[in-house]
Amino acid sequence: MTARIIDGLSVAAEKRAQCRSLTTALRERHGVVPGLAVVMVGEDPASAVYVRKKIQACADVGIASRKHLFPANASQEAVISQIAEFNADPTVHGILVQLPLPRHFDVKAVLEAIDREKDVDGFHLYNVGGLVIGDTVFPPCTPYGVMLLLDHVGVEISGRNAVVVGASNIVGKPMALMLMQREATVSVCHAKTRDLAQFTILADILVVAAGCPDLIVGPMVKSGAVVVDVGINRLADGRLVGDCHFDSVAKRASMMTPVPGGVGPMTVTMLLVNTINSAQRALTRGLRAQMACTDSSAA
Ligand code: GUN
Repeated sequence: MTARIIDGLSVAAEKRAQCRSLTTALRERHGVVPGLAVVMVGEDPASAVYVRKKIQACADVGIASRKHLFPANASQEAVISQIAEFNADPTVHGILVQLPLPRHFDVKAVLEAIDREKDVDGFHLYNVGGLVIGDTVFPPCTPYGVMLLLDHVGVEISGRNAVVVGASNIVGKPMALMLMQREATVSVCHAKTRDLAQFTILADILVVAAGCPDLIVGPMVKSGAVVVDVGINRLADGRLVGDCHFDSVAKRASMMTPVPGGVGPMTVTMLLVNTINSAQRALTRGLRAQMACTDSSAA
């Protein structure tokens, strides 16, 4: 078997075209331009690349973005005070704090300073809780993008065995919850899992987000499985690779995402989707408040 390659770039392009139509409608019908504020602390090179991609993608679909860069030694209070300003600014519909933060930060405190109605990364406890009960407002972008890819290529999820390798708050845990919500039987493996292959071999859907090149090789994969590689690893020779050994896994899988060009473009795209959704929600809240005012003055 040779896997069909799931082309994240083309799925992302299609979704971004829809985003463009939505921002045009918001602007022309309501005078609303969705706005995203990005906060970055320090100059981590990988984070700088991700932030640049996010800002370019915003411009591409008609979202106004702004970036606030703090030096690596900035205080947590300064960052939280900037977040409070963005919370109060009606032109900002989404706030994203690029992770990781420097070690002296309490990440949870920073993420919880974000207004939950502007938490387009979906990292606030409120949104994480929503995910647990299957009713989240802003699903975290990477697993949200994976679900869209699986749906796009028509993968049946209900009743299948799904194995998630990696249990991070950003990808692995929300991914497992989303698959569970769609009635998959989900196992979560992580760095301490013994004999990883005994789990991965059972997966009809295998999502790998461990940050470890070549962690998954062909013999660990069930014949015909759908494999989603979320890993992005830069090798010493400069090559960008995922967590799966591409050639051997592609021989076993029925479908597989490549790295680059698989999940990466979807992560950025779902940030755009969440930001536009947030702008639409703000508009609806504003219209409702106006109607309530009109009703009470008429009474
Ligand atoms: N760092 C790595 N992935 C992400 C992400 O999806 N959002 C943020 N804010 N930081 C990240």
